[in-house]
Formats: sequence, structure tokens, C-alpha cells
Amino acid sequence: MNVQPAGIYIDATYGRGGHARALLGALGDAGRLVVCDRDPQAIADATSLAAADPRVEVHRMAFSGLAQALAGLRGRVAGMLVDLGISSPQVDDPSRGFSFRHDGPLDMRMDPTTGVSAATWLATADEQEIADVLWRYGEERHSRRIARRIVESRTAHPLETTFDLAALVSAAIGRGGGRIDPATRTFQAIRIRINDELGEVERLLDTALDLLAVGGRLLIIAFHSLEDRLVKQRFRALEQDYRDARRAGPLPVPTFHEVTRKPVMASAAETTANPRARSARLRVLERLA
Ligand SMILES: C[S@@+](CC[C@H](N)C(=O)[O-])C[C@H]1O[C@@H](n2cnc3c(N)ncnc32)[C@H](O)[C@@H]1O
Repeated sequence: MNVQPAGIYIDATYGRGGHARALLGALGDAGRLVVCDRDPQAIADATSLAAADPRVEVHRMAFSGLAQALAGLRGRVAGMLVDLGISSPQVDDPSRGFSFRHDGPLDMRMDPTTGVSAATWLATADEQEIADVLWRYGEERHSRRIARRIVESRTAHPLETTFDLAALVSAAIGRGGGRIDPATRTFQAIRIRINDELGEVERLLDTALDLLAVGGRLLIIAFHSLEDRLVKQRFRALEQDYRDARRAGPLPVPTFHEVTRKPVMASAAETTANPRARSARLRVLERLA
């Protein structure tokens, strides 16, 4: 992040503020930290942090809207961190419905006050749409079979809980005997659909770069290959524009340079201490001009 003590920073995915607190530790009194999340519990935590630290400003919203909400900061932000996906408190809370390991209502919304829950979507979407989502966002080989089973059984047995869905997937495709639970891909796919996770990343990449100051950095941590691919392709295209421009003459404004040619991964020691860091990939982009 290359923190400047008096800089303006954004933590677009506050969670429980692990990154935010680390950033505040590196910022001086003149620094400023804008934090964002769409989860009400994350926002409650951020609000208490802001009450104790005047450098913190809180925005409850989807990060795709940040560039518009922070239009006054255009060209002034020294760094923005986006730690994608769901947080441990979300996965571990059965009432949020994210995990097939805990029984709870089949919700899966990062912001449960808006949009449609997983249960409602599965009760209303057509078979083709469900199969497409499982295939595209979960890379689930048995997408059609699972979608057919959902639609055949949902009138008599609506899917209301996480265990209902996990049991249906096992009944449709068997336990498999593989390394991962047979419901893993289905849960991931539905969660991505319910929260429009890839659309959020695309809209962020379309809009948020304008916020960066010269020398400002955008750091994105992705947890699955679909979102990492979006980030990688966009960063690579910007890097190519930069190289083409450098050959052609004066650099256009704005110009971006990829700081990480390869993603930064957690060390063996870190994944031992925190196995959830295993699949994290960090990529960094810097504004040059
Ligand atoms: C991996 S966690 C972040 C953990 C955080 N870095 C920490 O140190 O605690 C991701 C967080 O981002 C939020 N989030 C995910 N997508 C979002 C989006 N499109 N808009 C706003 N918040 C989002 C989730 O609600 C969750 O709290």
C-alpha cells in the first residue's frame, strides 16, 4: 500500500476492520480513512471505530457506488483496498445462511435488508437459469442435474434451510468421495448470484480508478478464480495501454502500471495460522500520471 501518513485511504470491504485498523496504525493524525461495507453488522463495528477515531468516515453501501458517493475525492485518494468475498463472521453465523456446515435460513445476502434471499431465488428462478448460475459461477459439472432436482422438488418441499439445500445436492449427485463437500460449488455459485459479486467487481473497476491520486494504489484481494480473472484481465489491459503509450510518446492521463505481475499469495506460515488465506490472491495497480 505504500502508506503516506497524511494520505486519504479507502477500505472498501471493512468486514470487522482488520485491514482498517492496520491502515490507521500506519496513518498520522492528518490521514483519513473512508470505510465501506454493505453488511449491517460490519457497519455497526465500523461505526464504533469511527466514534473513537475522528480519522474514520463510514459508508454503508455496495462498493460499486463508492466513486459516485466520493466524487469530491476524485484524483485525491492515495490508496484503496478491496478484500473481496465474504467475511469469517458472515460464514460462521448460521443465521446468515452462507455455509452448508451450519443449519440456518437459506439467505446468503451480504445485506439482508435488500434484494432477494437464496431461498426466494431458488423458489422462483427457472431451471435453465439455475443450471447456468451453477455452471458459470460454481463450475459445477452436475449443474443440470442439480437444477432439475431443485425445480422438481420445490413445490412439495420448498428449500428453506442450508441443510435442505446441502441434502438436495447430495441426493442429486451423491457424496462423491472427493476432497470437497459436494455442496461447495452450488453454495459458492448461488452466493455469487445473490450478491451480484462479479458485477460489483466490474462496476468497481469501471469507476473507482478515477478516485486515485498520482502515485495512488488500488489493491484487490480475490478468493476465487472468476473474480481474480476479472481483476487480472483489467490490470493487464491497463498495463498494456501504458506500455503502448510509453513507446508512442508522452503518457496519456490517467496512466496505470501493474505493480504485481504475479499475484501475491499468503506464505506457508500464514496459511497454517489462517487456512482461509489459502486461496487469496492480491494484485496491485498504481496510477502513474
Ligand atoms: C473478506 S471480508 C473483509 C474482511 C476485512 N478486510 C477485515 O479485515 O475484517 C469482505 C467484506 O466485504 C463486504 N463486501 C463484499 N462485497 C461487497 C460489495 N460489493 N460492497 C460492499 N461490501 C462488500 C462483505 O460484506 C464483507 O464484510
